[in-house]
Amino acid sequence: MIKGFLFDLDGVIVDTAVFHFQAWRRLAQKLGGDFTVEQNEQLKGVSRVDSLKKIIAWTGATIDNQTFINLMELKNECYLELVVQLGPKDGLPGALEFIRHAHAKGILIGLGSASKNAPMVLDKLGITALFTTIIDGNNVVNGKPDPEVFLKGADGLDLKPAECLVFEDSIAGVQAAKAGGFNCVGIGSAELLKADVHFQALGSSTPEALVAQF
Ligand code: BG6
Ligand code: MG
Repeated sequence: MIKGFLFDLDGVIVDTAVFHFQAWRRLAQKLGGDFTVEQNEQLKGVSRVDSLKKIIAWTGATIDNQTFINLMELKNECYLELVVQLGPKDGLPGALEFIRHAHAKGILIGLGSASKNAPMVLDKLGITALFTTIIDGNNVVNGKPDPEVFLKGADGLDLKPAECLVFEDSIAGVQAAKAGGFNCVGIGSAELLKADVHFQALGSSTPEALVAQF
């Protein structure tokens, strides 16, 4: 019986995945390289530090520790410039309504995001109060595809993984959910994500239909 929903943030609740992509591309270009939309699928859900390691490997650049730290800061500054405009109207299609509806039905709501900026983004969307637990990039040692973020989320809801549904748009995130013993709703391509069920957006289903299905 499903009693809780654990949501990824970027690309599930709000379209910030495109801002991460733009910010990382600017950085890659600074390093004299670039990467594709397909390669970006390997960055989705992945922590800031692990994303930068991948981009450096793709560009073939050699950098020292201090430059690595500076580049992480630079990427975040660039991302923050892009999200400054976010407000309560900026949820992905049907997403905020879906979460409000689930909350009103008594389903416990949690966040499991790799982003250290997640609490700030939830505040901008005006939905923080709906969340019983918020696990973000500041609260985990091991990033997705490790299941830690979702296991801590389930703990925060006082539920077992089998009692929660995870909502994810990234390959790493679906892997994390499955590794933790969760059922997973993929937001995006079934072929790419390999979740248990797939939708283009949260608004394509209802909390009741999903709870009945699992
Ligand atoms: C994930 C995004 O949610 O958070 C990644 O999918 C991002 O693209 C990661 O790199 C870390 O985010 P932040 O805000 O801590 O740099
Ligand atoms: Mg995501």
